[in-house]
Amino acid sequence: MKPIIVAIDGYSSCGKSTIAKALAKYAGYTYVDTGAMYRAVALYAFRLLGDEAIRREAVIPILTNIHIGFIQAADGQHVTLNGEDVESQIRTLEIGNLASQISTIKEVRAFLVAQQQAMGEKKGIVMDGRDIGTVVFPQAELKLFLTASPEVRAERRFKELEAKGEKPVLEEVLADVNDRDYRDTHRAESPLRQAEDAVVVDNSEMTREEQMAKIVEIFDRATR
Ligand code: DC
Repeated sequence: MKPIIVAIDGYSSCGKSTIAKALAKYAGYTYVDTGAMYRAVALYAFRLLGDEAIRREAVIPILTNIHIGFIQAADGQHVTLNGEDVESQIRTLEIGNLASQISTIKEVRAFLVAQQQAMGEKKGIVMDGRDIGTVVFPQAELKLFLTASPEVRAERRFKELEAKGEKPVLEEVLADVNDRDYRDTHRAESPLRQAEDAVVVDNSEMTREEQMAKIVEIFDRATR
């Protein structure tokens, strides 16, 4: 069976990475979390530039100093920034928001998209993000578009943050989900949109197991 490219796009906190990881494991494919790459750029820019980190003119010159990698840790894949494991630092609400803002900069996208395309050269990859089926791999053999209602996503994100020891406020998390949706779908550069040939999976009412069963079925059909 020839390896394929699986492109998974969708809104923030709709469980893309959980399902992408599980599918990669099932298929024996490499998993790439492109959101983590945007977050790593955001973290680097924030450390160096503080509040200037969203200014295009300030961010563009620092891109060449950013080297992003992935390592396998005991609890799964971690992202590295210039060799440093930054997995926990990139998973905060603040860095998520900054990543959403920085990802509107055309040069940041070009910088990361080139790296993502190189990672898919040999296929056998599951990549998740916002523009994977539309921009990074428009030729992907399988495209999935995941959705869930903003309320369901806010609830899930709230629980994740709580589990990490943060003290989130549900209304704020929901407002943040809505803000991020708006920004991700309305930006000029590669806005989040469903590829015409994507299979849509709304997981608002599905358990993880139900969703996985559905996605495995879609994958098996695509690779048969
Ligand atoms: O999936 P995530 O929440 O980790 O992504 C963080 C931000 O990065 C998200 O708000 C938008 C941006 N992003 C993007 O623009 N394109 C991608 N392929 C992945 C993420």
